[in-house]
Order: sequence, then C-alpha cells, then structure tokens
Amino acid sequence: MSELTQTPPIVWITGAGGLIGHALCCRAACNSTPRELVPLRRADLDLLDISGIVERFQREKPAAVVHCAALSKNPACTANPDLAFDVNVLATQVLADMCSKAGSQLVFLSTDLVFDGQKGAYTESDAVNPLSVYAETKVLAEAVVLRHPRHLVLRLSLNGGRSPSGDRGFNEEICQAWAMGKVLDLFIDEFRCPMSANVTADAIWELVDRKASGLYHLCGSERVSRHRIGELLAMLHPGLSPQIVAGSIRDYKGPPRAPDTSMNCDKVEPLLSFRLPRFSEWLETHGCSEF
Ligand SMILES: NC(=O)c1ccc[n+]([C@@H]2O[C@H](COP(=O)([O-])OP(=O)(O)OC[C@H]3O[C@@H](n4cnc5c(N)ncnc54)[C@H](OP(=O)(O)O)[C@@H]3O)[C@@H](O)[C@H]2O)c1
Repeated sequence: MSELTQTPPIVWITGAGGLIGHALCCRAACNSTPRELVPLRRADLDLLDISGIVERFQREKPAAVVHCAALSKNPACTANPDLAFDVNVLATQVLADMCSKAGSQLVFLSTDLVFDGQKGAYTESDAVNPLSVYAETKVLAEAVVLRHPRHLVLRLSLNGGRSPSGDRGFNEEICQAWAMGKVLDLFIDEFRCPMSANVTADAIWELVDRKASGLYHLCGSERVSRHRIGELLAMLHPGLSPQIVAGSIRDYKGPPRAPDTSMNCDKVEPLLSFRLPRFSEWLETHGCSEF
C-alpha cells in the first residue's frame, strides 16, 4: 500500500471529557503527525465495563492509548477506595495488557503525590511513599504499566486550564470559590510545580511521537507555594474580588498532606522540543486566554 492510501494510526484518549484528555484533543491539531484520534468520554467507554474495553479495543486496535481517565480527586478516592482501585488500577491493568499484546503504546498519567513531600525536587529514582488512597492507586497502577517495557508513565504536578465541565483545573476550582465569595486559606509552605494542561498535552504528543517508554516526571519548572499560586491567579482575576489568607501546613488538622512534591524534569527535557515553562512567566504571557 502506498503512503498516500495508508490509514493513519488510531489513538485513543480515555478521559476525553476531563481537563487533560480535553487538552490533548484540542492540541492534537498543533502536532503534525497524522493520526485518527478517538476521544473517549465516560459515555463512550466506561472503565468499569471491562468486557466493553476489551471488545472495543479488539475492534478498533488503537496503535496508542493515552489513558487520562481516572478517579482523579483525592476526596472521591478516600470516600470510595474500592471504586478508586477499580477505575485507577484495574482498568489501567486491562489497558496495559491489551496494549502490550497488540504491540500498542500505553501512556499512563500518574502524579507527584506518589511522594510524601518530605524532600522535594524528586527524581524518577526517588522512593515513593503515598499518603492518600488516590496516590496509593497511582503507585499500584504505575507498577502495573511499567511491567511492559514499551509503555510510558508520566508523573504530573498540578494542571490548570479550561475543562469541559468548568471545574477540573486548579484555577477553575479557585476561581469558583472566589465567585462564591469564599476566602481561601492557602498554604505558604506547601509546594507544587504547576503547569498548563495545554503544555502538558503538547509534551505528551511529542513523547507519543518519539515512542518514549519508561518513567518520567513532567511538570512546570518552577516550585510554587499554594499561596503564591493564589496570588498569581488573583492578579489575573481582579473582577472576582479574590480573597486569600496565608495559611501554614503546620496548623492544618486534616488527613496527611505532602508539603513539597516538586519534581526534577531533567530526564524528560532532552526528549522535548521546548523548555518546560516557569508557571509565573507562562501565566504572564498566556494566562488571560487559558486560565
Ligand atoms: N489535573 C491534575 O492536576 C493532575 C495532576 C496529576 C495527575 N493527574 C492525572 O492525570 C489524569 C487526567 O487528569 P485530569 O485532571 O484530566 O482528570 P479529570 O479532569 O478528573 O478527568 C478524568 C476523566 O476520567 C473520567 N472517568 C472517571 N471515571 C471513569 C470511568 N469509570 N469510566 C470512564 N471515564 C471515567 C471522568 O469522567 P467524568 O467527567 O464523567 O467524571 C473524567 O472525564 C488522571 O489520571 C489524573 O490522576 C492530573
């Protein structure tokens, strides 16, 4: 068959109704590689329906699966650990095994919260110590995926942007709270490396193109406190009359939190055509249109 008549490879995006899955669908057009994108929302493919996943996979034979669907919020996972396990681990295992048998690539999205946050600047060789049900399921799923040498695990930090439901990005959550007149208590001593979901999506498409495999950290290059994130967003949304107080994780009485899950991205950067942005600088240039 000539190149002109070849059909482009099918790529599944699970969780296409969520923040990062949606960003991947939107940003696919900016990447010149031909592919047939199959955005899968929950209504198209319920991850709790294992036979449905298997049947559809065998029918469509995707060359790659970017697996964004998850029970992604910690309170939901804590409230229902069995559901969190089924969605975050079991379904991932089914996809990893199917992809492996078919010679397809799986990209699995994990989290900086696999770390306990006692050290910061984590590299891929640092030991994990999850503090929550959500993070525990991600650690289990990472192991399941990394059993297969062709698959890719990307640990992300906080992602922001515009989600289809309007409430998935950290910026959307914060702005919603301000719109309701809430005063936000944001910690000055809890650190993450935030990044735009669109930048995450651009990086993922480049890594898919390179058929990257193994474990990588992928996040913004600036370590920022939750309080600073709030200040930066407040400057962007003065119309919401943002109100923030500077809190401290030391005074916090709830379930355990990881104070500094900043990550080192030296391993992934050579595989990308662009530098991972500093959040404050990125916000100055793109904030108004994307946040
Ligand atoms: N966003 C971040 O800051 C961040 C940070 C680190 C890691 N991650 C990881 O990155 C991935 C994508 O995150 P995200 O922010 O895009 O999450 P999200 O906005 O919550 O999207 C997750 C999607 O998964 C879908 N889903 C949940 N249960 C499902 C099921 N049983 N069957 C099919 N679909 C189901 C959800 O559907 P509904 O819309 O119907 O609920 C939602 O659209 C997740 O694995 C997350 O853990 C995200």
